[in-house]
Amino acid sequence: MKVYLNGTFLEHTEAKVSVADRGFLFGDGVYEVTRVVNGNFFREQDHLDRLDAGLADLQIRLSSDLRNSIPGISREILQQNNLLEGEASVYLQITRGAVWPRTHTFPEPAAEPTVYISASSFTPHTKLHESGVDTIKVPDVRWARCNIKTVNLLPNILAKQRAQDEGVNSAIMIRDGVVTESPNANIFGVKNGTLYTFPESNYILSGITRKTVIDIAEKLNISIKFIPISEHKLYELDELFFSGTTTDIQPINRVDGKPIGAGKPGPVVRAIQAEYHQMLRSAESKPKKAV
Ligand SMILES: Cc1ncc(COP(=O)(O)O)c(C=O)c1O
Repeated sequence: MKVYLNGTFLEHTEAKVSVADRGFLFGDGVYEVTRVVNGNFFREQDHLDRLDAGLADLQIRLSSDLRNSIPGISREILQQNNLLEGEASVYLQITRGAVWPRTHTFPEPAAEPTVYISASSFTPHTKLHESGVDTIKVPDVRWARCNIKTVNLLPNILAKQRAQDEGVNSAIMIRDGVVTESPNANIFGVKNGTLYTFPESNYILSGITRKTVIDIAEKLNISIKFIPISEHKLYELDELFFSGTTTDIQPINRVDGKPIGAGKPGPVVRAIQAEYHQMLRSAESKPKKAV
């Protein structure tokens, strides 16, 4: 598998990062994961916009030449790995770079950011999309800048691991008595035909798939309210589902063993799934052009 690291395309086994890299030492960096169908990037500009916003929030500065080369490098890495046909995902990570000695404050002068891009083939979780999944509630113990897609993912990892240890697919994170999101997806509830989801803010990641669901709701005339779902009202919902780049649209059947609605995927999530898959498929037919 070939990857890109700091200007070079090389075998992933040969790609090495310094022990002084601030990504390694502090988790001081951001990442993006983008879906690619037959060489076409799904909502690429949205991912690049979120990347730019994250870099700006962390004050990591990339030269404009390097920033502008990211779409081209991403395509090159797909090509070098024969991933221009079928489903793939591209992973991009940018850290504040390597500086010795270790200090908390930003290095002066600034280091050259570390830029890493890889691509893998991707298999959608079709069976789970069909069946729906079970989940548990966990406290959302993350910081208050969850809108930044930082590589610092420990609370997310611990929550996802706890779900796996308890024999379910994922976790629903609760902060101050309301549902925020899952360790790697946003969450929507449905009550009487209306969608409910946590408002865009510093307490959730503004998911690109979440944005796509909002677009779909508009297209299908489904009303949507950006109001958090209370923990104690979870079981009054008719439906509940995840949205995410690698999760797609995934119905949630049970939380902590208790059913949501009928305990199986309902009509609203089915309609949104159908539209979403159509949008992904229509990405297939678009020309393979760089943005
Ligand atoms: C915490 C969190 N929320 C939401 C999402 C979904 O975002 P997107 O739809 O852009 O993949 C992710 C994706 O990794 C995530 O890590």
